[in-house]
Amino acid sequence: MKFLKKLGALALASALTLSNFPMAPVEAKEDSDTSNTAGYSTDVIYQIVTDRFVDGDSSNNPSGEIFDKYDNRKYHGGDWAGITQKISDGYFTNLGVTALWISSPVENIMIIDPSNGCASYHGYWAKDFFRTNSAFGSMDDFQTLVDTAHANGLKIIIDFAPNHTSTAEYDDIYFPEDGALYRDGAFVGSFTNDTQGIFNHEEWIKDYDWLENATYHSMYGLADLNHMNATVDEYLKDAIDMWLDKGVDGIRVDAVKHMPQGWQTNWLSDIYEDHDVFVFGEWYWDPSKPTGEMTNFVNNSGMSLLDFRYSSAVRNAIGSEEDTMDKLYQVMVDTENDYNEVNDQVTFIDNHDMARFMSIGKDGQSSVNQAYVLLLTSRGVPTIYYGSEQYMTGLSDPDNRADMTSFNTNTTAYQVISKLAPLRKTNAALSYGTSEEKWVNDDVLIYERKFGNDVVLTAVNRNENVSYDITGLFTDLPEGSYNDELDGILNGETISVNAKGAVSNFTLNGGECAVWTYTTDEQNVNIGNVDPGMGISGNKISISGRGFGDTQGNVTFGKTEATVLDWSDSLIEVQIPEVAGGKYTITVNTCDGDKDAYDGFRVLTASQVATRFYVNNAETDYGQAVYIVGNCEELGNWDPDRAVGCFFNNTASIANYPTWFFDISLPKGTKLEYKYIKKDSAGNVVWESGANHVYTTVTDGTGIVVDDFNN
Ligand code: NOJ
Ligand code: NOJ
Ligand code: CA
Repeated sequence: MKFLKKLGALALASALTLSNFPMAPVEAKEDSDTSNTAGYSTDVIYQIVTDRFVDGDSSNNPSGEIFDKYDNRKYHGGDWAGITQKISDGYFTNLGVTALWISSPVENIMIIDPSNGCASYHGYWAKDFFRTNSAFGSMDDFQTLVDTAHANGLKIIIDFAPNHTSTAEYDDIYFPEDGALYRDGAFVGSFTNDTQGIFNHEEWIKDYDWLENATYHSMYGLADLNHMNATVDEYLKDAIDMWLDKGVDGIRVDAVKHMPQGWQTNWLSDIYEDHDVFVFGEWYWDPSKPTGEMTNFVNNSGMSLLDFRYSSAVRNAIGSEEDTMDKLYQVMVDTENDYNEVNDQVTFIDNHDMARFMSIGKDGQSSVNQAYVLLLTSRGVPTIYYGSEQYMTGLSDPDNRADMTSFNTNTTAYQVISKLAPLRKTNAALSYGTSEEKWVNDDVLIYERKFGNDVVLTAVNRNENVSYDITGLFTDLPEGSYNDELDGILNGETISVNAKGAVSNFTLNGGECAVWTYTTDEQNVNIGNVDPGMGISGNKISISGRGFGDTQGNVTFGKTEATVLDWSDSLIEVQIPEVAGGKYTITVNTCDGDKDAYDGFRVLTASQVATRFYVNNAETDYGQAVYIVGNCEELGNWDPDRAVGCFFNNTASIANYPTWFFDISLPKGTKLEYKYIKKDSAGNVVWESGANHVYTTVTDGTGIVVDDFNN
C-alpha cells in the first residue's frame, strides 16, 4: 500500500531530523484547506462542460464534421488550456468556488454517433481511459491544469464514466467504432468482437426504473461494460489510479444506477486504499420515482450522490413555483432523515442533463438569485453549473450546454455567490450544521443552520409582488444586531435579536433574500464529518469539525486507538487502526479531556474483491426474495436485517429464476461462512437448512460462486 510506504519514509525522515537538526514546526491542516481532499464540506463546486467553456488552444481543435461552433451537438474547441487561463485570471477565486468539476478527461470516439448525430464533446463516449481526449489537451496540459488549480486554492474533480464505452447497438445502424475499448492504444475488445467477455450483451430494454435491467442492459445503446470480468475490473482500477496520481482531488461517477453496487464498492475501496478523495455518483432520479434503491446506494455503497431530491425540490419551489416553500423544507427534513450523512451529498439547482434554472424560473433572474441563496446556505456540497451565474438559458440537451456567454463578474448572481460561498469555509453551521425551519408559508422560508455556537439564519421570499410582515421569529443568534451578508443586494436588512432570541419585527419585501450569521472560536469539541465514509485498516481518514484544540489529543475506533497523522482545531487525520470489519463509533478526545463521538463508521474486513454469487433452486413464495448473510461485515455479520441483496433472477445471459445471482464486494483471500435466506418486505426470514456454505474469496481478479439452495 502506497500510503503506508509513504508513512514509513516520513517516520524515518523525522527520526533522522530529530537526532541531527532542530525540527521546523509543521503547519497543521485546517478543514478549509484545499489539501483536505477527502472532505468537501467547506467547498463550493463549479461544474464545467470542458468543450463549452474557453478555447485556450485552437491547435487542439478537432477537424472535420465533428467540429462546428454553431452546432451544439458538435465540438466547439473548449479545453484545459482555457480553464487554466480562467483560473489564472481569477474568475473562480473571485466567485468564491473552491473546486472545479470538469468533463471526463479520457479519450473518446472522434466520429459522429450515427444514431443521434452528436459528437463526443461531452466526454461520455470513452474509447481509451488511459489517454486524454485530444480536443481537451495533452497529458501535460492536464497536469498544468491540476497544478495551476492547486496553486490557486482550487481542487479538481474529474467526471468519470466507467459504465460504458460508446454507442454500439441501436436499431440496424452500423457503428464504425463498435464500442471498442483500448488500453493505452492496445485493443481490448469491442461489442461484436468480444472474445474476452468485456461487455454485457443483453437485449436493449429501456426500462431504467427496474434496477436489474438498468444494471445489466445497455443504456441508450451504449456498449455496457461487464464489470465482473477481471480484465474490466483491473482496467478500471488502474485507469482511475493513473488519473488520481496526477493530483486529481475528487471523482464524479457517471450513471451509478447502471453498474453493480457490489462492484462499485470494491472499486471504491481500492481507490481509498491509495487516495483519500471525495467521490460522488450520479443516480439520475425524478420526483415521480420511489427513493428506496437510491437511499440504499447512498448509505451503503461508500460514495456520496448528487442530491436530485434536493434539486427537484428547489426547482419546483423557487423555479416553476408549482410547489410551496413549505414542501421544499419538508424535503430537507426527509433527506436529512434518510441519508446517513446529508452534509456529504452534492447539491445543485441545474446541470447539463436538465433545463437551466433561468429557463424554468418564473421570475427570470430573480428566481436564479433566490435559488443560489438557498443552495449556498443549505446542507450538502453546493455546485454551480457553469454559466448559470451569467443567466444562460437552455431547455434541454444540448442547448443547456451552450458556449459560456460571458465572464461578467458584475451579474447579481455572481455577486450573490461570491458573498456566500466563502462563508462555507468560515462558518461551521454551513458546512456541518443542522437545518431548522423558523418561519414558513407558501412563499417564504426562513431557516436556521447551527453547529456548536455557529449560526446562520437565511430568509427567502420567492414572491416578487407580495411583502410579508415577519413576526414571532426566534433564532439562536446571540443578542445583537446583524447585517445582511449579501450587503442588501437582494434588499435584505439589518435585524436585531434580543436576549431571548426574539428577532424584532420586520418586513420581508417581495423577492427579498437575506443571510445573517454568527461565528466564534469558542467551540466545544464537535465532529462535523468523517471522510471517506468507509475504509480498511491503514487507510487515511479525515475528521473535520470544531473545538478539537490546537494540541493533539487522541482518537479511538471503538476501544482501539488510531494513529494520529495530523491535528488542528478543525481537522484531524488518522489512520484506521487494526480492527475487525464492522461499524465503529469514532471518538475524538481532546487534550483537555473533552470528547465527541461519531457513530456508524464502516470498516471493511480487508482489501476487497468483487464476487458473483449464483444460488440455484431457490424457489420463493410471492413477495419473498433471496438474500445472503454471513460471518463478515460485508455479509452483514449474520444479521438478517443487514443481509445483502435482494438477489436478481431475470437476466438472460446471467441467471433466471429459480436461479438467483448478485454481485458483492468481499474481503479478498478470506474464508467465509454464509447462508442464503428468503425474506419478504415485512422482514420475515426463512433460513436455509443444514450447514453453512463455506467459500474462500479470490486474492486477485473477480470471483464466482455457484451454490444450491438448501431447503
Ligand atoms: C449521465 C450524464 O450526465 C449524461 O449527460 C450522459 O449522457 C449519460 N449519463 C451517459 O453517460
Ligand atoms: C444462524 C444460521 O442459521 C447459522 O447457520 C449461523 O451459523 C448462525 N446464525 C450464526 O450466528
Ligand atoms: Ca481548443
